[in-house]
Amino acid sequence: ALCDIGLIGLGTMGSALSLNIAEKGFDIAVWNRRTKVTHAFKAEAGELADKIIATETYEELIAALKSPRAIILMVPAGGPVDDQIAQLRPLLDPEDMIIDAGNANFHNTRTRAASGEPFIGIGVSGGEDGARHGPSIMGGGPKESWDSVAHILEAISAKYEGQPCATWMGPDGAGHFVKAVHNGIEYADMQMIAEVYGIMRDGMGMDAAAIGGVFEAWNKGPLQSYLIEISGEVAKAIDPKTGGAMLDAIVDAAGQKGTGRWTAIEAQHLAAPVPAIEAAVAARNLSSRRDARALGEELFGAAPKHLPHETLSIDTLEQALIAGKILCYAQGFVMLSAASEEFQWSLPLPAIAEVWREGCIIRSAMLNDMSEALTEDPERNLMFAPYFSDHLKKNHGALRQVVAQAALHGLAAPALLSGLSYFDTMRTARGTANMIQGQRDFFGRHSFVHIDGSEGQHGPWAD
Ligand code: 6PG
Repeated sequence: ALCDIGLIGLGTMGSALSLNIAEKGFDIAVWNRRTKVTHAFKAEAGELADKIIATETYEELIAALKSPRAIILMVPAGGPVDDQIAQLRPLLDPEDMIIDAGNANFHNTRTRAASGEPFIGIGVSGGEDGARHGPSIMGGGPKESWDSVAHILEAISAKYEGQPCATWMGPDGAGHFVKAVHNGIEYADMQMIAEVYGIMRDGMGMDAAAIGGVFEAWNKGPLQSYLIEISGEVAKAIDPKTGGAMLDAIVDAAGQKGTGRWTAIEAQHLAAPVPAIEAAVAARNLSSRRDARALGEELFGAAPKHLPHETLSIDTLEQALIAGKILCYAQGFVMLSAASEEFQWSLPLPAIAEVWREGCIIRSAMLNDMSEALTEDPERNLMFAPYFSDHLKKNHGALRQVVAQAALHGLAAPALLSGLSYFDTMRTARGTANMIQGQRDFFGRHSFVHIDGSEGQHGPWAD
């Protein structure tokens, strides 16, 4: 029988996604640059092998598919995607569709979509395990193209109370954009957890196992989330090499493939502030400058670090993290709203929170409350929605305590600090930009708006 769908690229994610598709009852034809990999994949597919056709050439792949065809690309973002499209397109019929499931930069997806040939870009989150057992899928492209494969994507996606976590976000690059913002939030969430870990380790002298226990406990409360859960597991794991804590044996330099950085760059283009995400991207970049940090420690001495006994409690840290997390998600959703307007996507903000409730890396209990708040009013900053403003009223004091103590004792906590600054900025009706406007008018006659409402004003320094 002809296959329902094709897939190119049998790396970790492509293999897992293919097995998922086969397991859900679809016939799938697969192709990989190295034919050996393709055959090994089928050979190791066990009872799912019946649903998988291993192909060696593009022609074979195309011949194995039902028409109109749909082919998923799961190859590295950038050049490899363009290469695949360039080789496939001439062999396909005009109505055949290519689906880019990698972490593409949404600008590239927009360009690729502009060719007018059926093309959708889908953001797939959840790592290998998600791809194998149910990822969260954020789609972008022509609605009718999405609709033609939606039954497959929904079947393989994670489910939240039975509802598939696979949603069409809008035209062209909308899906990949939403995935990028997901990753920006992922960076900030991870960074805030790492900062709180640092305060427990260096400020409170706790060992990794004890810290793991704290995360485990937090995972039963408002912070319940995949990232808190795995942080607990990471902290508790033992290094088979040393017998000590695994975490203590990991070099403190974070890698990144770039999607979080794109979010920060795009936020700047959109003038949609996401300071917590920017702080997280910067923190990753600083983390990899190990030599410079070692030099700094030699020159300035290590910070005093240890907090006076009982300055901060574990509960205070938890409350601070709750506040920080809300502020970082609030920033992400404001950015989504700005992009929706800029690119005329009509992004379904409540549906974005919904599609993130299961399967993806940032899945958490709070996302359900976010989807409810956004359903009530998609344009309102989440920090002003009653459920979250209540949390913030209750917890911003703790965030302030944590950031203040961290600053006093030389513990860097840039994402939490930027979350707090965002909060304080957003609760200050009369800010300080009047000084900036005064300066601009002074040196460049840029003019300002007078507090009495008159525009185009100049100060007495103008002469
Ligand atoms: C996901 C993740 C994933 C991401 C990697 C690495 O949603 O499953 O966001 O797509 O690419 O986890 O990201 P970095 O290398 O940038 O940390």
